[in-house]
Amino acid sequence: MATEFNNGTIEKAYARWAPIYDFVFGALFARARRAAVEAAERAGGRVLEVGVGTGISLPDYARSTRLVGADLSEPMLRKAHARVHELALSNVEGLAVMDAERMGFPDSSFDVIVAQLVVTTVPNPEATLDEFLRVLKPGGEIVLVSRVGADKGLRRMVEKLLTPLTRFLGWRLEFPWARYERWIEQRDGVRVIENRAMPPFGHFSLIRFGKSAGSAATKEDRLEAHVIG
Ligand SMILES: C[S@@+](CC[C@H](N)C(=O)[O-])C[C@H]1O[C@@H](n2cnc3c(N)ncnc32)[C@H](O)[C@@H]1O
Repeated sequence: MATEFNNGTIEKAYARWAPIYDFVFGALFARARRAAVEAAERAGGRVLEVGVGTGISLPDYARSTRLVGADLSEPMLRKAHARVHELALSNVEGLAVMDAERMGFPDSSFDVIVAQLVVTTVPNPEATLDEFLRVLKPGGEIVLVSRVGADKGLRRMVEKLLTPLTRFLGWRLEFPWARYERWIEQRDGVRVIENRAMPPFGHFSLIRFGKSAGSAATKEDRLEAHVIG
């Protein structure tokens, strides 16, 4: 069983999931995904969906919403390509194999970054959130659907104990809200707009962060933040 949490283990995990992903996780997260799409469209503008996977949420967007998708896993993205083709989703401008932590987009490229069930899967969540900020325009929004783990107590202990198993599956259970708070405290011009519980199990949230209109996180800022952090 994988003991490291890195892109290699994640690629292997999602190559295993790709053929059955929609069947297992489609209906389970349908409500949360729709809430995220609604939030993204309320914010408006061009959307980047990171960790777009099989493209399961792409048909939920209005055909007038310009979309780009990115994912590390080629097998997952092949499914997304097939979906875009079959449903003639002409508003999807492109789907790219990319590491969420190092995306090939220029600074301030998108009005909204959507990442559903992604922050708890990537090896370096804070660096990934920083990269979201970099490609987000000032005044834009980050919209997440994510598992929020327990801050303390028995549930947190169980979440930690299960880590080797969930790493193999491709995600971590253990991700307390305090981790987002620490990330925000160390960044300028980021605020929480919303943190709303979502089904299933009450352990997931719709989380929205705003990037202030005056903030322009560039690659250089990001590197500096890493050195300091
Ligand atoms: C749990 S799935 C979520 C898929 C989809 N967003 C959904 O709502 O069901 C996590 C996705 O994140 C992708 N992913 C994991 N690490 C990544 C990374 N570093 N860069 C880009 N995508 C990544 C996986 O390949 C997978 O498609």
